[in-house]
Amino acid sequence: MAIGSSNAHDMHMPAIKVRVAPFRWLAVLVGCVIFLVLILLRNPYKPIDSDVTTEIAERLNEDASKLRWSLSRAQQWYSSQPWYLGANYLPSTAVNVLEMWQDDTFDEETIKRELDWASKRLQMNIMRVFLHILLWMNNPTKFFQHVDTFLSIAKQNNIKVMLVLFDECWNEDPKLGQQLNPIPGVHNSRWVRCPGQSMVLNRTSWPLIEQYTTDVINHYKSDNRVAVWDLYNEPECSKQIRVVLPLLRYIYKAARSVADVEQPMTIGIAKWPLTTPLAKFELAASDIISFHSYGPLANVIANVSDLRQVQLGRPILCTEWLARTFGSTLFTHIDFFQRENIGAIHWGLVAGRSQTYYQWKSPEGAPMPKMWFHDVLYSNGTAFSALEEKLYSEIKHEKVSK
Ligand SMILES: *[C@@H]1O[C@H](CO)[C@@H](O)[C@H](O)[C@H]1NC(C)=O
Ligand SMILES: *[C@@H]1O[C@H](CO)[C@@H](O)[C@H](O)[C@H]1NC(C)=O
Ligand SMILES: *[C@@H]1O[C@H](CO)[C@@H](O)[C@H](O)[C@H]1NC(C)=O
Repeated sequence: MAIGSSNAHDMHMPAIKVRVAPFRWLAVLVGCVIFLVLILLRNPYKPIDSDVTTEIAERLNEDASKLRWSLSRAQQWYSSQPWYLGANYLPSTAVNVLEMWQDDTFDEETIKRELDWASKRLQMNIMRVFLHILLWMNNPTKFFQHVDTFLSIAKQNNIKVMLVLFDECWNEDPKLGQQLNPIPGVHNSRWVRCPGQSMVLNRTSWPLIEQYTTDVINHYKSDNRVAVWDLYNEPECSKQIRVVLPLLRYIYKAARSVADVEQPMTIGIAKWPLTTPLAKFELAASDIISFHSYGPLANVIANVSDLRQVQLGRPILCTEWLARTFGSTLFTHIDFFQRENIGAIHWGLVAGRSQTYYQWKSPEGAPMPKMWFHDVLYSNGTAFSALEEKLYSEIKHEKVSK
């Protein structure tokens, strides 16, 4: 049986060879096509994450940059400001932005206590704070009342505030009312996006987004307790730039439609390279440049030189950093930020319900880490690191002139 079939096989060899050759070529061809497609998909210069062509995007960016401050106005503004040192702030008793601002959980006492620590012990002079459209939609009077209270407490502590209007990170479905308790061990387990996925996808709701933007900016545009407007935190965070970039452009237009705004506007660069449609828009739209970087100092230095190459002379703030286990620490970074006159706003002041002392991917039930990821103080005020507190208290705050 074996011999017989072997013979038959030999007899058919020539015929099989003829058939195999074209298949081989086909396989090579298909391989090449797949390879080319992969190369094209990887190419950051391709406008694959926007729903407009490169030409239209360039024109929109040109329009955006016509609306922003001139270079000299931005520089003038910055020279009148102190060197900013501060944190992204959420009271330790709040699990997310909704819990921070809602009527029954707005915690004035905690805010007073914590901002006092920030100012007196850590010499901080700025806080980056997130707002939420749902609160404004629900009750604009109450919304502004709480923001006013917060700004007054900040002012009593000589702290300026950077207000963030929208945010594309973490849970997509924000809901007013009682918020869920944090998931043990998990970083920022209840943080919510703003406006949230349903409004992002529903263009009928965009005029509301426009109203919120103009109303909030109008309310505080000449209030010197507010230092900077941050229009949208990490628009790429939800990985749907095709939807979010048009919304960002829409929000930007609304923000610029408000007359006589005395504070600069910015949209932070959180992802490199600077050649993506999003990064190009962010750079074209920002009065002052802001960026996020949780990497070691070498990365941040590269980040800054990259930004300075494309935006010569615009003031720069680093509005998110500090990830101790990634090598982003006060000891490694603060000197550079101060020497280069780059405002330094790291993530987290007081450890609390947002649990950002855990790493981003910390699993449910993880024990308290020996080395905190973000945050500086325990909720009772004790510093995570006495050495860090000492360094904060010794920072000399004369403005470095460049
Ligand atoms: C879209 O938004 C509008 C305006 O807020 C709202 O009336 C409508 O119900 C929303 N549609 C959906 C499908 O959620
Ligand atoms: C900027 O920093 C990030 C990490 O925070 C890094 O991924 C990126 O490559 C850096 N950019 C440059 C130009 O080095
Ligand atoms: C604050 O809390 C930390 C952690 O629970 C503890 O180690 C520290 O002793 C407390 N400090 C004071 C002053 O109670």
